[in-house]
Amino acid sequence: MDLHELYVGCRTYRRFTQEPVGEEIVREALENARIGSSGKNAQPLRYVAVTSPEAVRDMQPLVKWAAALPPEIGTPKEGEQPTAFILVVKKAGAIAFSDVDVGIAANIIATTAWTHGVGSCLMGAINGPKIKERFGIPEEDTLRLAIALGYPAHSSTIVDMPADGAFDYYVDEKRDYYVPKRAFDDVVRFA
Ligand SMILES: Cc1cc2nc3c(=O)[nH]c(=O)nc-3n(C[C@H](O)[C@H](O)[C@H](O)COP(=O)(O)O)c2cc1C
Repeated sequence: MDLHELYVGCRTYRRFTQEPVGEEIVREALENARIGSSGKNAQPLRYVAVTSPEAVRDMQPLVKWAAALPPEIGTPKEGEQPTAFILVVKKAGAIAFSDVDVGIAANIIATTAWTHGVGSCLMGAINGPKIKERFGIPEEDTLRLAIALGYPAHSSTIVDMPADGAFDYYVDEKRDYYVPKRAFDDVVRFA
């Protein structure tokens, strides 16, 4: 798979087969994130790999799926839920640029996983206090993102953005996803 193919396929996935994601894939994703670029090379991020069945089960009610869709469509049901999560934590005192580090790390994790056919959903709508408590994340640190992982049980296709600029993703009758993206010339200007 060339890089463009990787980025086309590496969409957000919200329903998964229940085949577990192997620990070696999680480790490879985190190893790649560990060596990613970091503002000032300060490396303020820490990760919690949530892989044990009990821990993964405890995560499920603490994340919120698909703000653009009604819950009965966007929220994975029992038997469709992710089989692992990675928590991305910013250490207390991290510099302002550290949110860029979070984005870089999240993308590295998602793309590394996708090279193994593992889909992901970056999740910002999470119950931070409850997740921090459950996984012993220090009070002073910031839980910035949870990344859901699993083998996708649906497709997701990029489509052109409609003329009215509506950016909400939507599903068809099989609950396969369609994700409008702005046109190249609408987002890029050469100078
Ligand atoms: C910072 C960030 C936070 C997100 N938070 C959530 C979330 O809490 N729940 C969810 O279902 N999707 C979440 N998403 C996924 C977006 O909805 C998704 O990226 C967007 O619809 C575009 O789809 P695509 O990733 O397939 O291009 C988040 C994505 C990003 C980048």
